[in-house]
Amino acid sequence: MAETKSPIVDIHTHVYPPSYIALLKSRSSIPYIRSFPPSSSLRLVILPAEDTESTSRGRPVGSEYYDINKKIEFMDTHSIDISVISLANPWLDWVPADEAAKAAEGINDEVNEECGKFPGRLFAFATLPLSGGKDVIVKEIARLKKLKYMRGIILGTTGLGKGLDDPELLPIFQALQDAKLPIFLHPHYGLPSSVWGERANDYGHVLPLALGFPLETTIAVTKMILAGVFETVPDLQMILAHSGGTLPFLAGRIESCIEHDAHLKAAGKLGKGRKTVWDVLKKNIYLDAVVYSEVGLKAAIQASGEDRVMFGTDHPFFPPLEEEGGKWASVETNYEAIKGALGGGSKEERAALGGNAMRVLNLDSK
Ligand code: URA
Ligand code: ZN
Repeated sequence: MAETKSPIVDIHTHVYPPSYIALLKSRSSIPYIRSFPPSSSLRLVILPAEDTESTSRGRPVGSEYYDINKKIEFMDTHSIDISVISLANPWLDWVPADEAAKAAEGINDEVNEECGKFPGRLFAFATLPLSGGKDVIVKEIARLKKLKYMRGIILGTTGLGKGLDDPELLPIFQALQDAKLPIFLHPHYGLPSSVWGERANDYGHVLPLALGFPLETTIAVTKMILAGVFETVPDLQMILAHSGGTLPFLAGRIESCIEHDAHLKAAGKLGKGRKTVWDVLKKNIYLDAVVYSEVGLKAAIQASGEDRVMFGTDHPFFPPLEEEGGKWASVETNYEAIKGALGGGSKEERAALGGNAMRVLNLDSK
């Protein structure tokens, strides 16, 4: 990597390492990879909403999903110096309990090794063996500290199966806080398909991806706030995908609903010491800048601060539908939003593009 004072860092960028791809190919229910004759090309089906005729069943899955050299190629095309890669959804959520520990060790070691092929250019968020139970998870968190390139963990919204407000998750959040490993919170499950109505299949991916994903994240974090997770584990650090879903926009409304809730008041939960939604946004939360517009990004910046927003791409998702090669519109839109919101060439822009990630994820230490 050329020496530069203000590197560009992509903190929202995924891989399915080769062993995970092999696992998906061996399956026939979601998540799976297979071809649909007469076409021989492979398709990745990970969301119930895309296991339909209208979405041609999932998405084409090419080498950009698993070949780390393609990640580097993509980074070079888009002037990205460093990527913090993460296993894409649905991670290991679906793995049987007795296989979880081994699966997580294998994937985390493999991703760490991939990073080692490009020292200084690749770091990673690890995957937890969620279905394995608390002890297995805490053990893997301890092991992660020994993996050179791991800088946090990626987590979905189901936790141990009961959501992120589940008290049984507290020791895991505590272990992550103690290990100084931030959580990259990422949606996968969206909202129940009944929400989208009878004609949802006519609209491809749009409703579950544009609305289901962000609302899933918003709901998950709001439940954590309501459950008092950020009072119990006060230094827990979370990076929220897609600029926090709709959390920055809805924070005022959530806060007002809390303050006007007689049930919470009677339960003694509104007194002194309560962290407000705004407190949590400014002390516990970082937001990626994967929101594709200046308007959304400005809300994120106002809610959490310009020192807490970080560039991302969501590669390999959202490739151009037609043209091959060259720059991706999805990436350029996010670059433009950062420039528009913070000013081209400003130190705030440089921070959002990479400086914040360097500091928060300790990317200077190789
Ligand atoms: N982005 C992701 O990370 N996952 C998806 O399933 C779609 C977009
Ligand atoms: Zn993503």
